[in-house]
Amino acid sequence: MSILIKNAQIIDSVKDFQGTWDVLIRDGEIAEIGRNLDCNIDQVIDAKGLAVLPGFVDMHCHLREPGLEYKETVASGSAAAARGGYTTICCMPNTRPVIDSEESLSMLTDIIKRDALVNVFPIAAISVNQKGEALTDMVRLKECGAVAFSDDGQPVYDSGLMESALEKAKQHELLLIDHCEAQELVKGGVINQGEKSAELGLQGISNLSEELPIERDVKLADKTDSRVHIAHVSTAGAVDIIRQAKVRGIKVTCEATPHHIALSEVLIKPGYTDCKVNPPLRSDRDREAVKAGLIDGTIDVIATDHAPHHEEDKGEDFYKAAFGISGIETAFSVCYTELAASGLLSMKELVCRMSLTPSRILGIDKGRLDVGKAADLTIVDLNKTVIVDKGNFVSKGKNTPFHGRSYKGEVIYTIVKGEIVFKKEEKQ
Ligand code: DOR
Repeated sequence: MSILIKNAQIIDSVKDFQGTWDVLIRDGEIAEIGRNLDCNIDQVIDAKGLAVLPGFVDMHCHLREPGLEYKETVASGSAAAARGGYTTICCMPNTRPVIDSEESLSMLTDIIKRDALVNVFPIAAISVNQKGEALTDMVRLKECGAVAFSDDGQPVYDSGLMESALEKAKQHELLLIDHCEAQELVKGGVINQGEKSAELGLQGISNLSEELPIERDVKLADKTDSRVHIAHVSTAGAVDIIRQAKVRGIKVTCEATPHHIALSEVLIKPGYTDCKVNPPLRSDRDREAVKAGLIDGTIDVIATDHAPHHEEDKGEDFYKAAFGISGIETAFSVCYTELAASGLLSMKELVCRMSLTPSRILGIDKGRLDVGKAADLTIVDLNKTVIVDKGNFVSKGKNTPFHGRSYKGEVIYTIVKGEIVFKKEEKQ
């Protein structure tokens, strides 16, 4: 299979490409980038007015399989990723069973081989059954294909266990993705603690419940000289702790989600549980601090934390509703609008945070648009305005607070290893 993309603007985070270019894809790789390429090929894509980017890499999403297929599957979640412009995604292990053993990991890798539309790398648990009591055999799990380790959805509560995990990570070059949440401070909270929780009379989740464990784990990373990646940073204080840690040379990286970049608690109203997410949508001040962290490089990565849920798991009761936002299909438009179209980040920098930096942290050869690399790329229309319609989601999870909102930038094609895995349907 060969594809020739004609007349495209190319945005790579390393190389500068001025003007428009043709990209030749052959045998799953980028074979040539040049001008007026003309050769014998199977398919031509006229990309006049469009931009070609390295496919996005999501180091944090939930595919719910095995066990929770009514919420999402590898097939539906990876198709949603393709629609969102993602060519590589890493799925969290909080499934049923938890991905904490060779058996469960091999069950998942078989499903991925059979059903995945994009590259899917599994993340295995740090602790057995994510219970925070005993470490999994992370070294063996890495040999069997786990790209990173996380108890996401749950914190590693025991500091001693976290210290041991970090020591292992240092010894064996493992990546730990750290869900930081002091549940004894959360006390059953459901939205951010502040004006909104007071107004609605709902139990709030304090900023400190996120910041204390980040402080702890940054210190443990320092002590063990290990690296740690902090998931879904959402408060001004968290950004500050990580900024200071980086200045001190501690090997900490972190991510922010599109919803913490674009939304705040202001949006929350009674019964609107599509806004319920963990960590919660914070104050506007926190949201500004997250954006400032992206601008100054404290926040390395944009990760979706795509957390699809079934309607029945949401409902209108904030105390009963599941935490999570189905976000992989809206991530690019939201981040392009909030960060690049608004002039806060250049397109090169945005693409870096969505493709190259996560690849580097994960240690995978993705996130570049260059000759000889896998043809994993995304073609976008930066001039198109879209109105988010959850009814059009490919994901089984329609739980989005972005529904009805208008954003700039639309994914037109997604190509994985030289195969078109998503093409936007043209309206009649
Ligand atoms: O909102 C969330 N949903 N945050 C998490 O940490 C877990 C996730 C889920 O699994 O639904």
